[in-house]
Amino acid sequence: MLSKTQKEKQVFIKSYGCQMNVYDSERMAEALLPMGYKSTPREEDADLIILNTCHIREKATEKIYSEVGRLKPIKQKNPDLKITVAGCVAQAEGEEIIRRQPLVDILVGPQAYHKLPEMIKNYDKKPVALDLDQSGKFDWPHRGTSNTVKVSSFLTVQEGCDKFCTFCVVPYTRGQEYSRPVAEIISEARELISSGAGELVLLGQNVNAYHGLGQDNRSWSLADLIWKISELPDLQRIRFVTSHPNEMTLDLMTAFRDCPKLMPYLHLPIQSGSDRILKLMNRKHTQAEYVEIISRLREYRPDIAISGDFIVGFPGETEEDFQETLSVVEKVGFIKSFSFKYSPRPGTPAAERVQVDSDIQSERLQRLQNLLTEYQFAKQKSMLGKHCQVLFERDGRLEGQLVGKNEHFQVVFGQIPVSWIGKVGTMKIVDANVNSLHGELVN
Ligand code: 5AD
Ligand code: SF4
Repeated sequence: MLSKTQKEKQVFIKSYGCQMNVYDSERMAEALLPMGYKSTPREEDADLIILNTCHIREKATEKIYSEVGRLKPIKQKNPDLKITVAGCVAQAEGEEIIRRQPLVDILVGPQAYHKLPEMIKNYDKKPVALDLDQSGKFDWPHRGTSNTVKVSSFLTVQEGCDKFCTFCVVPYTRGQEYSRPVAEIISEARELISSGAGELVLLGQNVNAYHGLGQDNRSWSLADLIWKISELPDLQRIRFVTSHPNEMTLDLMTAFRDCPKLMPYLHLPIQSGSDRILKLMNRKHTQAEYVEIISRLREYRPDIAISGDFIVGFPGETEEDFQETLSVVEKVGFIKSFSFKYSPRPGTPAAERVQVDSDIQSERLQRLQNLLTEYQFAKQKSMLGKHCQVLFERDGRLEGQLVGKNEHFQVVFGQIPVSWIGKVGTMKIVDANVNSLHGELVN
C-alpha cells in the first residue's frame, strides 16, 4: 500500500541476455512496488528506466551507450527521469559509464539489486553499487506481488561461476558460485505457485553445481532440491538451466528417471566438439565424455531431449576442429541449440590470443546452423500425428489461440479455450515448423 505522501510512479525495465536477467528484472519490479513504482511498457511514460544489461557477447558496452543516448529526448521532457544501468555491463565497466554518459544516474551490478530502493532515493548523488557478495540480493519482498508471475516462472537457485572457461565473462561479472539455502527457495517456490506458476524453471549459471544449505543443516545437491520442490502440491513441472557436463551427477540422472515432475529436457552446452579446443576453453572434458554423459542420461530417461550451446571460431580453431563440432551434432541430435561466433571479452584469457578471421567464423556459423536446423526440424516433424502433454502458458497471436510447451520444451500452438491456461492438456500434433508445433486438444 502506498502512503498518502507517495505518488504513483512508473518504471520501465528492459532486460537483455539470459533468463537470470529476466528473473532479476522481475524481482526489481517487485522491490520497487512499495516505493510506488508500477511497471510500464512505454519508456516515454517512465519516471525510472532500468537497462538490465548483458555482457556475454559482442559490443555490449557500445550498445548500452547508444541505448542511453537514445533516451536523451525523454530525459529532456522529464528532468526527474532517473536512468539506471544495471547488470553485467554495469559490473564490467564500472563508474566509467557515468563518466562517459552523464545521463546515467544510477549504476548497479547484478548482485547489488537489493540496494536499488535506497539508491533511487539518493539518485542525485549518482550512486554506484558493484559489490559481488550475493547473499543480500535475495533478501527482498515476497514474490507474486506485481502480477509478473507466469505459468512458467523462473526461480534463481544459484548464482555465479567458478569454472573460468577462457571465453566467458560470467565469473567476473556475476562473481563466485553461490547457492541459495533450500528453505529460502522453497518459500519463494510456494509464493510463485500460489500466484499461478505451474512450472518452475530453476536458474543458475551453473545450476547443477548447486550445493545449498538444506533444512537438515547439510549441503543439498540440485537433485535433493528438485525432489523437495516436487513435493509442493500444485506444482506440475520442474526444469533447470544451465548445466555443466562435469556436474551431471548420478542423483540427477536418477531424478530424470524417477521424479515425474522433472521434465525430460536438458540444456547441456558443449561449446565445441574438438578436444583440443575444449582444452583451450578450459572446459575440462572431452567430446567422448560429453557423448557418454548423453548416452547414460538416455539409459536413465530414454526420451530425454538435449539442447546445447556452441561457439565457433574460438582462437586457434581449425577446419579440422570445426569438423569435430559438426560430428558431435550428428552424434547427439540436439532438439534445439544456440550457436555463436566467438566474441573476445575484455579481461578473459582467450581474448588475448590470435583470433580467427571473422569471415571464416561467419562461414562456419552458417554451416553449423544449417546442420543444427536440419536436426531440429527433423525432431519437430517426428512429432506429427503423435500425442504430447502441453502446459498452456498464454494467449497466442491469433484469436482463440493458446501457446504452451510440451515435455520436451517444444512450443505448441492450438485453438483452445482460454480456461486451459495453467493446465496440462493432451495435444495431437497436426503441423510442424522449425520452431513451433500446432496441435489439437484430445482431452
Ligand atoms: N563468445 C561467444 N559466445 C559466448 N558464450 C559465452 N561467452 C561467449 C563468448 N565470449 C556463449 C556460450 C554460453 C552461452 C550462454 O553464450 O555458448 O554457453
Ligand atoms: Fe561461463 Fe558457463 Fe563456463 Fe561458467 S561454466 S565460465 S558461466 S561458460
